Parts: sequence; C-alpha cells; structure tokens
Amino acid sequence: MCGIVGYIGPKQASQILLAGLEKLEYRGYDSAGIAAIWEGQLHCIRAKGKLFHLADKLADWSYPATVGIGHTRWATHGKPEEYNAHPHRDESERLAVVQNGIIENYRELRESLRQKGYAFRSETDTEVIPHLLADCLKQLRNNPSDKATPPSLLLQAVRQVVNQLQGAFAIAVVSADFPDELIVARQQAPLVIGYGQGEYFCASDTPALIPYTQTILPLDNGEIARLSYNGVEVCNFNGDRVRKTPRTLNWNPVMVEKQGFKHFMLKEIYEQPGVVRACLETYLQEDWQPDRTQSPMRLELPQELYADLDRIHILACGTSWHASLVGKYLLEQVAGIPTEVHYASEFRYAPSPLTPNTLTIGVTQSGETADTLAALELEKHRRSDLKDAYRARLLGITNRTESSLGRMVPHLIDTHAGIEIGVAATKTFIAQLIAFYLLALDLAHYRKTLTPERMVEILEGLRQLPALVEQILESQERYVETLAHQFLDTQDFIYLGRGINFPIALEGALKLKEISYIHAEGYPAGEMKHGPIALLDAKVPVVAIAMPGTVFEKVLSNAQEAKARDAQLIGITPMNEQEARETFDTVLPIPEIDELLSPVLTAIPLQLLAYHIAALRGLDVDQPRNLAKSVTVE
Ligand code: AGP
Repeated sequence: MCGIVGYIGPKQASQILLAGLEKLEYRGYDSAGIAAIWEGQLHCIRAKGKLFHLADKLADWSYPATVGIGHTRWATHGKPEEYNAHPHRDESERLAVVQNGIIENYRELRESLRQKGYAFRSETDTEVIPHLLADCLKQLRNNPSDKATPPSLLLQAVRQVVNQLQGAFAIAVVSADFPDELIVARQQAPLVIGYGQGEYFCASDTPALIPYTQTILPLDNGEIARLSYNGVEVCNFNGDRVRKTPRTLNWNPVMVEKQGFKHFMLKEIYEQPGVVRACLETYLQEDWQPDRTQSPMRLELPQELYADLDRIHILACGTSWHASLVGKYLLEQVAGIPTEVHYASEFRYAPSPLTPNTLTIGVTQSGETADTLAALELEKHRRSDLKDAYRARLLGITNRTESSLGRMVPHLIDTHAGIEIGVAATKTFIAQLIAFYLLALDLAHYRKTLTPERMVEILEGLRQLPALVEQILESQERYVETLAHQFLDTQDFIYLGRGINFPIALEGALKLKEISYIHAEGYPAGEMKHGPIALLDAKVPVVAIAMPGTVFEKVLSNAQEAKARDAQLIGITPMNEQEARETFDTVLPIPEIDELLSPVLTAIPLQLLAYHIAALRGLDVDQPRNLAKSVTVE
C-alpha cells in the first residue's frame, strides 16, 4: 500500500527515484510524484494514474537535484486525483513529505491546524504532516531554548511531529531549508535504508534498492533516521541515539526483471519448479533413513517449540490464508494437532482463548501485511506473562526474512521463493505449501504420528514435485491459453474442491477474481447443493478438482450434479482420457500423485487459467485495479 523512496548522494535524484518507484509500483498505482531540492528551492512534480504518466512529465524536468523523495500511491483517503498525489507540501512550499500508511488522528490534527490558519489543498490524511512540520519548525526557530544545531533542526521537528501521529506510517521528508538531509521515520509500516558508495537510499521495500546496493538497514517501529551526504544516523522517537548494524542481502538485480516473459506473473508461475526444488534442497535431509532418530527436515526449530503442543493457531490473509488451510489439513491429518486458521483481520479484534501449549504461526509472504503483524503483536503481548518456553511459541512463515515479521517473531521458516513482483501471489503460495509439508512432517516425526513407511512415501512424493510441476507447465500452457478464449465474456465461475483441495478451489477463484475481474467463488464441493447450486446454468463454468483419494468419488458426484444443471464442467484430474471425457466437458490433466501432495499440482492449471483469461482480456495482469501487493494498512 503505497511505496516511498528517497535518495541523497552525488547522482541526479529524479532518475533514481523514478527507477525506485518502478520497482515499488506493485504497492499502488493510483498516482505518483517526486520532490527534490535544487538551488535552495523545492521542486515537486506529480501525476494521476500509473507511473508512466509521471515519467512522461519528468521528461521536461530539468533540475539536476541530488536529494529527493518519491511516492507511488494506493488511495486510502481521497480520490486518486493529482491534487491528492504525494509528495504533500507545506504552505510555503519549502518542505515535502511522502507517507505510506494511515494517520488515524488526522481529522483532529487537521482541525487544530485549520484553527491556526493552515489551509489544506488535498483530501488526504498525509497533508497534516507538512503543516505540522512547518508549525514545529516555526516554533523551534522562535524558541532559542529548544533550538538544536542547524543540521538537526529538521530531525527535531520530525521527531515532534511523529509523536503526535497515531496510526501506522512510514514517512520521508525533504526541505529546501535543510538541503543536505533527508529524514525518514517508521511506525508499523515498512522502511528500509540502503547504503551505497557515498550515497544513501530509503524505500518501502528492498527491490527498489538492489540495483544500487545490497547493504540495507531496516528501520524498526518508533525509529527515525537522518540521511545526509556523509552517512546515516538513527534515533528513536524519544530522540535517543540507536546503534544498528546494516545487513547484506544476497540478491541479484535480475530477479526483479521480467526476463523475456510478457508479465511477472507468468515468469513467477514458471519459476515454481525451481522454487519447490530450492525449498526441498534447503530443508530435506538428503540421506535420511527411517531408522534415524533425527528428523528428515532441517528446519532448525528448537524442540521446545514442539513440546506438549495441544493446539495451533494460524494467522494470515488472502492467499497466505488459503495456504494456511492446506497447512491445517496437514497439521491435523499428518501431525495430529488440532489447528485453527484465522483471518488475521478478524483475530486481532476477537482472538481465540490462548493456552500455554498453543503454537501461533503467522503466514505472510511479504512479512509486512498490517493485519497479520497486528494479530501477531497481540499474540506476543498475550504471551508476555507466560514463562519463557511458552512465550517463544511464535513462528513465522515468510518469503522475506528481512521484513517486519522476520524481526517480530523468534522463529522463522524462510520459503525461499525469491522476490515476487506480480500482485497475484503464485510462486510464494506454492512455497508456503511446501513449508507446511515440511513443518507437518517435522512435527509428525517428533510426535511419531506416521509410520516410517508412510514418511518415506511422502518424502519420495515431495521429491517428485518439481518435475511434475514442470510437466504440467510444459504440457498445459498452450492448451490453457486456447481454452481461455472461451471465457472472455464469462461473468461467473464456480470452483469446487474437497478435503485438502478445497483451499485450492478458493485460491483458484481468488486468482481469477483479482486479475480478470470475473466473479468467482470456491466452495467445498459437498456444500454446493446447500445453496450455491441455484447459481448454476449454461453460462456458469464449474471447475472441479477431482484427485483420487478419500473424496474422489464424492467430488465426481458433486460435479455431475453441476453438469445436470447445464454448467460447463472443467476437470482438474489425473483420470484417464476416456473416463475423464465421459465426466467433464474439458479436462486439465494432472499427473498421478498422492492425494496429500496434490495441492502443489492442482494449483498450477488454475493459475494458468486465471493468467490467460486476464491476459486475453487485455488486463494489467501484474498490477490489477484497486489492489496492492503488500497491504500495509488495516
Ligand atoms: C494474493 O494473490 C493477494 N494479492 C493477497 O491476497 C495476498 O495474499 C494477501 O494480501 C496477503 O499477503 P501476504 O502474504 O504478503 O501477507
């Protein structure tokens, strides 16, 4: 939700800011803007809509400024119009601010500023910040006792202002009166500082930094940093100096390029065999034998996390919530632990009772989803009275270990999917599924809930997955593209699954909804006849996931019930061709696989189907309307 960038150094800031915003456009694309300081003046340029509109305007921008800030917006307060675009400035146009987040007390702040005579030019919550800063600077200048040495005056004003703000925010500030500094602050919204050679950067997310540097410093909540041409100083909101050590990333700038694919989403779908392989290579013991006491996994989670567990709570949103539903199935059926999956946005206001023997797992690919972080923070707080071993029963599953989640929980499983740019999650979903297989099997080993033979069988199945995903991609991409032509005017889709494949039906429907804007719902196949079947007719295609196993025959019967209502039936199944043709109108074949592992395969054709329908409809697959990759507001 909104991306912010900043630069101070020897180079021309505007191009660096624009390039940074391109890498952050997945966070919002309602408007964009930059502000920079040149020859004692603040220069600001903004444009409604996607970033290319700003890029067009910047062609006439002639200021070789070397310090500046930029923003790409996902509108929360105020329409996506240019007058609401960031940066926002004070009345004298001497300072500019970009913000990611929501200032919850902006109404009262705006009212008190209005009473002091400040005039507002936008409908945003953010605009209170430049006016508050101007007001603070006026007072600091007029009050010698409070006056700090000139370079820190802006820092001091920012500190006073952030202490008045309520909500979740990350801000960056530049001022023509303080041309040699850039001030940033963070409270519950991500902000990372990048260290280059005599140049410093800030951004909401690391992809904006990696073309320039691999050395980063994530700010923590309640921290302010002053970036100058000479370095970075960090303090907390009380003004106390904070000593922090930057860390080095091991990322390659090519990871954030399309590499010949038409869209990031398609590239990321194709990366999935490699992602599964990388995850398994990282975490599976190569030469594990069933007689070994040691686990077949190398998750490196302490045994205390597992001791006497009687319940697991999983907190997540969106696609991560769907992966968690598969996780629940595995943790219950494989490891025998009662597991509840909660929408983080619901849990944070109505948490289930906590017992000391509950393990709480937060699942978020970005590690920055505001609701998931808030729900976990609540869990952390609720545990503060428990003894150490219980307090530490918090585990994160994330693709971004350097994220806020990574710094919040004591234990992590890194899903190793590589950066995902497409707003619709694909490879990170598959990687989350793998993480849940590994966790459930590790727990099963610890709790001895599987026979050695069954454990070996599942491990062998896991090792086959990368090749099987590859096989589906190779055999189906063209076919799915052709099939997609049939659905360009379709208005509703139904996805059916049961058991471990019910969450895949939900995920298939979400993928279609978010990128093609076609209404789609996922249902447990057995629930159809309790209401949703009334929706069916010849215009509503039904996608049924029918994998041999515990619910195979049941799903086939439910699919027939849909067919009897004239629905066009698409089967995701390994049934032989003739049988499948007798049952379904169209078949997307899946290789034979243990039912328990089948979600990793059944998800792939559903991703391809959603992708091709959206691409053929000419939609912006990577940046669908109204969405942002990382939802950092409530
Ligand atoms: C996925 O396609 C969605 N864009 C969205 O539902 C996403 O999964 C959700 O916002 C959670 O994100 P997270 O995994 O980064 O927490």
